[in-house]
Amino acid sequence: MTTILANKTVILGITGSVAAYKAADIASKLTQAGAKVEVVMTEAATKFIAPLTLRSITGRPVVTDMFELASEFSIEHVALAEAADIVVIAPATACVIAKLASGISDDELTCTVLATEAPVIVAPAMHTSMLQNPITQQNLTKLKARGFTIVGPEYGWLASGEVGLGRLSETDKIIDTIGQVLSRRKDLAGRRIVVTAGGTQEPIDPARHIGNRSSGKMGYALAEAARDRGAEVKLIAAPTLLPEPASVEIAHVRTTAEMKKAVARAVAKADALIMAAAVTDYQPKSAAKTKLKKKSPALTLELVRTPDILSEVKGNLLKVGFAAESENIVANAKQKLKGKKLDLIVANDITDASSGFGTDTNKVTLIDKQGKVEDLPLLTKREVAERILDKVVGLLSEKGN
Ligand code: CTP
Repeated sequence: MTTILANKTVILGITGSVAAYKAADIASKLTQAGAKVEVVMTEAATKFIAPLTLRSITGRPVVTDMFELASEFSIEHVALAEAADIVVIAPATACVIAKLASGISDDELTCTVLATEAPVIVAPAMHTSMLQNPITQQNLTKLKARGFTIVGPEYGWLASGEVGLGRLSETDKIIDTIGQVLSRRKDLAGRRIVVTAGGTQEPIDPARHIGNRSSGKMGYALAEAARDRGAEVKLIAAPTLLPEPASVEIAHVRTTAEMKKAVARAVAKADALIMAAAVTDYQPKSAAKTKLKKKSPALTLELVRTPDILSEVKGNLLKVGFAAESENIVANAKQKLKGKKLDLIVANDITDASSGFGTDTNKVTLIDKQGKVEDLPLLTKREVAERILDKVVGLLSEKGN
């Protein structure tokens, strides 16, 4: 842990919670581990703990006011954002979480978070009722979906004198999380990763198609997470309503045949292919050139199989597939893993409301070639993406390429 923190610039954001006093311990441990700790306090935080305490611990100026020329960073408010290897907000109040989720940047801390490309960790601390308020929960989900890491809060003694959920996580847990996020940070640097997303569509006529309910969210989350971990990412996207991720090369396709062609081109130089797309298995034997008219009471379409893109990919790259299942999840996924000669398969139960089509969450099981089965809890799609990429990093280094 000490090694990973050495010489890293950690922006420690402190907000107005009673737990602000614990930030002194976090600042101290980070400093002892060799990190350069830049403390940014909101005005409310300064009511709970004196900036001088943090300054004495870190040996660095503490930023409390965007307009005060107290530190070398104050001249340009994005300078801190650029210098950061990581931003940690501990404790984070419901208010700062809401501001971050809405992009409000009305002080040094929120400006820094909005401007930074560094990973952000948020450690909430608040009364249970504020935490459980659906607005706070939605805000936390929004942050997670944007790639923020949320640590805690924990169950325990609260400032109100009650016992409940809302207590700031222990310093060691926060420091461990910082280490994990930092070590993940660029672990895909130099890797070329191809990700497919969305559901392919097979035209019936110029107005209609056969398709499926994939939203593309899982594939997009994978592409963004791989990009943030340093990979060069090619995203092959079937139609979705999602905004295009920045700094990712994207190819838009519609049909399975188009996706197959784009994948074949992209994998030639890739280290890994992650097929998150839901590929339509059948297509009309021939698409009508003009719109079909409802002349007869019934219509029969002759469908033929589409190519199996994943099975047909050759080469020494790592292949990751998904298995969308509604029964015998693990057994069916294992069969696909073997049949399609994959290194890893991500199985999910599409009948589960929290991991079905279009949701922001997913509950998956990872199964590797050795038969190791890992059930993940219900996570946001971004978190699932990070866990899949953790496996990809390991498998790539095992493969030795
Ligand atoms: N896949 C593919 N080409 C196809 C169908 C699926 O490359 N024509 C990929 C998917 O992107 C996914 C994996 O294969 O990574 C498994 O897809 P899934 O739809 O779960 O399984 P199928 O192979 O289509 O089998 P079935 O529909 O019978 O369950």
